[in-house]
Amino acid sequence: TPATKIKIKQAVEKRGERVRIFGWVHRLRQQGAMIFIVLRDGTGFLQCVLTGKLPQTFDALTLTLESSIQITGTINELPEGKTAVDNHELSADWFSVVGKAPGGDEAFLNKVSEDRAPDLLADARHLVIRGETVSSTLKVRAALLQSFRAAYASLGLLEVTPPCMVQTQVEGGSTLFAFDYYGEQAYLTQSSQLYLETCLPSLGDVFCVAESFRAEKSHTRRHLSEYTHVEAELAFLTFEELLEHIEEVICRTIDGVLADPKTKALIDSLWPEGESFTPPSRPFMRMDYRDAIKYCNEHNITRPGPDGTDGPHVVGDDIAEAAERKMTDQIGKPIFLINFPKEIKSFYMARIPGDEGFTESVDLLMPNVGEIVGGSMRMSGLDELMEAYKHEGIDPTPYYWYTDQRKYGTTPHGGYGLGLERLLAWLLNRFTVRETQLYPRYTGRCKP
Ligand code: 4AD
Ligand code: MG
Repeated sequence: TPATKIKIKQAVEKRGERVRIFGWVHRLRQQGAMIFIVLRDGTGFLQCVLTGKLPQTFDALTLTLESSIQITGTINELPEGKTAVDNHELSADWFSVVGKAPGGDEAFLNKVSEDRAPDLLADARHLVIRGETVSSTLKVRAALLQSFRAAYASLGLLEVTPPCMVQTQVEGGSTLFAFDYYGEQAYLTQSSQLYLETCLPSLGDVFCVAESFRAEKSHTRRHLSEYTHVEAELAFLTFEELLEHIEEVICRTIDGVLADPKTKALIDSLWPEGESFTPPSRPFMRMDYRDAIKYCNEHNITRPGPDGTDGPHVVGDDIAEAAERKMTDQIGKPIFLINFPKEIKSFYMARIPGDEGFTESVDLLMPNVGEIVGGSMRMSGLDELMEAYKHEGIDPTPYYWYTDQRKYGTTPHGGYGLGLERLLAWLLNRFTVRETQLYPRYTGRCKP
């Protein structure tokens, strides 16, 4: 019988049929006259059995891990509980090697990942991604992006693609990557926020999924030099409505991801035995910045002082990463931390009416990660914005297009940015955001 060419994920529909599959040798084991291959093709894993009756069984003994092969045979259903993926396996009647891998250490790299030095693993990322942990992570990442887009579509936001090469900063000069742009100074974007704001009068509420770049000199679990930034901007809304929108987007996106059984299984596989991701319950807790300062002091969560000794937090302090995480882990659920002092936040943030030292700003904090979203209402008055540039020491000239928004039909508006890798670290119980990127970029690492 002729064999139909299929991908591994289709195997379940092809039980009893003769099929042809292309893939890579993920695992290899010999047991008497039988050779077991776990074949991988990106869509799944399939156990293939080569028996002594096969004309090429002898060649099979020279098979190596990570070789690419073509294999034909019949998909046999197995009794429940037999150790094979999805309770079926391919009983092979023929195979051929497409690209033979050398075998030995090189090809084994992705199977022994835990034992390797981090730098070696990072250099070998192109092989490590073939392993189950990373490939599952990347599959969930793809599902998450789809789910974000579906959530935004259902809420009526339009997707735009802003530029990555820019001449303005958004989140402070110290983390800018600068480069020469045909003789002019330019930067890799820190955030698409300013561009999204310009879209409101043209396209209505908008979102983007774009790379953002930060020259973060410190090594932390959650800082990357390049990361995927999901950002949205909405017009004619209040701060409270902005918070409700953020909650809605996150819950719809998470629900969408968990609703697909395949994705759910991948997520579960990344949690330790007996543990799993707990979807957040609504409404998210809201906590005023000043109450967070109080919380830290009441729970002995200190702040590192300039002389090396730790001390209590005072209003006006930036709550450092460690303190923020300690508080979030103690509380153990998502927190909207709101109303930060203006001195520690970005120049464009709207002040709280009647409480001008503070801003209509929000950080969404998640257990195990800390801040995953930063957002705010934006200043809508022209004079106020000009004053803010001055206070920040920003030359307003290159910002003319941003300033113009306050001239041609200004409105109350607000938005936020979400770090995709941080959301994934929360969802997939990863220790660092680096594990959730295809080829992570951080201090000292720009390859592969
Ligand atoms: O809090 P941030 O700096 O806010 C902004 O960029 C706003 N302009 C966004 C907006 O309002 N449109 O960054 C937003 C989020 C953070 O909460 C964090 O999740 C992520 O981006 N982020 C990083 N993720 C990984 N590595 C870094 N170095 C990051 N810096 C920020
Ligand atoms: Mg922030």
